[in-house]
Amino acid sequence: MASDPSPVPKAAPPARVLSGIQPTGRFHWGNYCGAIRQYIDLQSSGESYYFIADLHALTTVRDPARLRELVHAAAVDLVALGLDPARATLFVQSDVPEVTELTWLLMTVCPMGLLERCHAYKDKKTRGLAADAGLFTYPVLMAADILAYDATVVPVGEDQVQHIEVCRDLAGTFNHLYGEVFTLPRPRLVAGGAKVPGTDGQKMSKSYDNTIEVFEDPAAQKKKIMRITTDSRPMEQPKDPEGDHLYELFSLFAPEAERAAMADLYRRGGFGYGEVKKALVQVAGDFFADARRRRAELEADPARIEAILADGAARARKQAGAVLGRARDACGLSRGATAPGRGA
Ligand code: ADP
Ligand code: TRP
Repeated sequence: MASDPSPVPKAAPPARVLSGIQPTGRFHWGNYCGAIRQYIDLQSSGESYYFIADLHALTTVRDPARLRELVHAAAVDLVALGLDPARATLFVQSDVPEVTELTWLLMTVCPMGLLERCHAYKDKKTRGLAADAGLFTYPVLMAADILAYDATVVPVGEDQVQHIEVCRDLAGTFNHLYGEVFTLPRPRLVAGGAKVPGTDGQKMSKSYDNTIEVFEDPAAQKKKIMRITTDSRPMEQPKDPEGDHLYELFSLFAPEAERAAMADLYRRGGFGYGEVKKALVQVAGDFFADARRRRAELEADPARIEAILADGAARARKQAGAVLGRARDACGLSRGATAPGRGA
């Protein structure tokens, strides 16, 4: 057969970005700088889906009123921080039941050994704690979350890369058995793995009780900042700003010129950490001032956030229904026109 004389190179399909965040607590500076900020930046690079992973959170949050509150707060926070529902599809994981059905299909091609190696379960087991099947199969639900939307790019922190590998493995096995049903995603590591330090200098994390929340009451936030641990070197002694967690926190929010001036101050010495803390209160306050204003507006209009989530869920269900229909067809579950995703 003669080859096409002027082959037109096929354009790569546009990226479809997807990520989820668990509503296990109010968002802190680590979540914002290590995850949320990147989600917001990526929404302009193509089609994007972002969701609040309430099904995953069920493995840790056991109080129904608290879970409802956290899901609502997460949605308000994300929109206030700049997630634009006109550009990105924002929804709640459990509003898309197609994903849980897809989880089962993937479970049937998932070797136990693969999940036994996953860190969330393994860590808990090594600490001698009882793990439930929800935690054990957590990566399969996460794989369904990704595959249900034909996502191609998944921005995540380093701790989640293993789970994307599991997702690729399961999708590959399913495709091998039943034909090309799923699109294989790739992880996109956010922020080069930079860790935001907490008030005690360790990695900021809910589990270490060292967080500063993005939308914490300003007076309470100020108190926390003023209590950030510092070393006891005398004021006159020059200090290296690099590696100093108070300076690192300041650098997250300070404009470039202020950052350079603060670094000079460290190198010169002769200042107290109290001054740096006050400056941190100021720059963080300025940095999140617009988001706080938007948050207050959204809170005053609860129907608006519900409408955003309902619209997001409708869009997400349409997409997930189509993928589930493909998967059911491929493995022999559907009988012609009754397959979900066909508008039947
Ligand atoms: P936590 O450790 O407080 O429970 P999560 O595990 O729920 O936080 O993290 C949600 C997202 O925020 C993940 O993508 C994670 O990589 C990111 N993240 C959490 N803490 C930090 C931090 N201290 N520095 C950078 N990114 C972080
Ligand atoms: N497991 C992720 C976390 O704890 C949250 C999550 C659930 C997720 N499903 C996802 C992230 C799908 C990316 C894609 O941070």
